Amino acid sequence: MAEPERPGADRWVPEHADVAGLRAAVQGCRGCELWANATQAVFGDGAEDARIMLVGEQPGDREDLAGEPFVGPAGRVLDEALDAAGIDRHSVYVTNAVKHFRFEQRGKRRIHAKPAVAHIDACHAWLAAELERVDPSVVVCLGATAARAVLGRTVRIGAERGRPIPHGERTVVITTHPSSVLRLRDPGERQAAQASLAADLALAAREAKSP
Ligand code: URA
Ligand code: SF4
Repeated sequence: MAEPERPGADRWVPEHADVAGLRAAVQGCRGCELWANATQAVFGDGAEDARIMLVGEQPGDREDLAGEPFVGPAGRVLDEALDAAGIDRHSVYVTNAVKHFRFEQRGKRRIHAKPAVAHIDACHAWLAAELERVDPSVVVCLGATAARAVLGRTVRIGAERGRPIPHGERTVVITTHPSSVLRLRDPGERQAAQASLAADLALAAREAKSP
């Protein structure tokens, strides 16, 4: 099969648009092939002057239908962790590394497929524009895809999570993806993973407060 066309998002990102303008423009993006099977692009959402930006992987099935990030099962895990960390979800900005849902159709079900590095790279201009407009002091990477998108390198979550990583003028905090908490079957393990996620978010909140 021929390689899909992936010119990258750059030419679709309006230079002087605010976040609302970016959110409108992303629906027209053809920077990679993922737009074709998705319902819509899911752009970031939240406070446009947020001190903390949370970056996930890509919209899931529920997010693809709703048009908003982290509103499905992973979003409930995230909300619970934000709550435990004392962070008001309305005070942060939440987005994803990749704006269209990648999946495989199996009968009636759409099964999540991890975005490839080529998709992360193709979509990067949208994330870069969000970072520039929102200008957070702390960026929380929820999982390896987000870390790859934000830091531009491969990250081992286990080795690098839970400590502030200076990155230009910002601080990056790496943590696990909420979906990895959902995948744990053992209740004790799940509770520990949920607590670790909350602890990493609390660290991000402390970093955001420090001058
Ligand atoms: N997982 C993500 O990474 N992002 C979402 O928006 C939902 C699930
Ligand atoms: Fe554009 Fe990103 Fe969607 Fe690809 S995934 S079409 S680069 S918005």
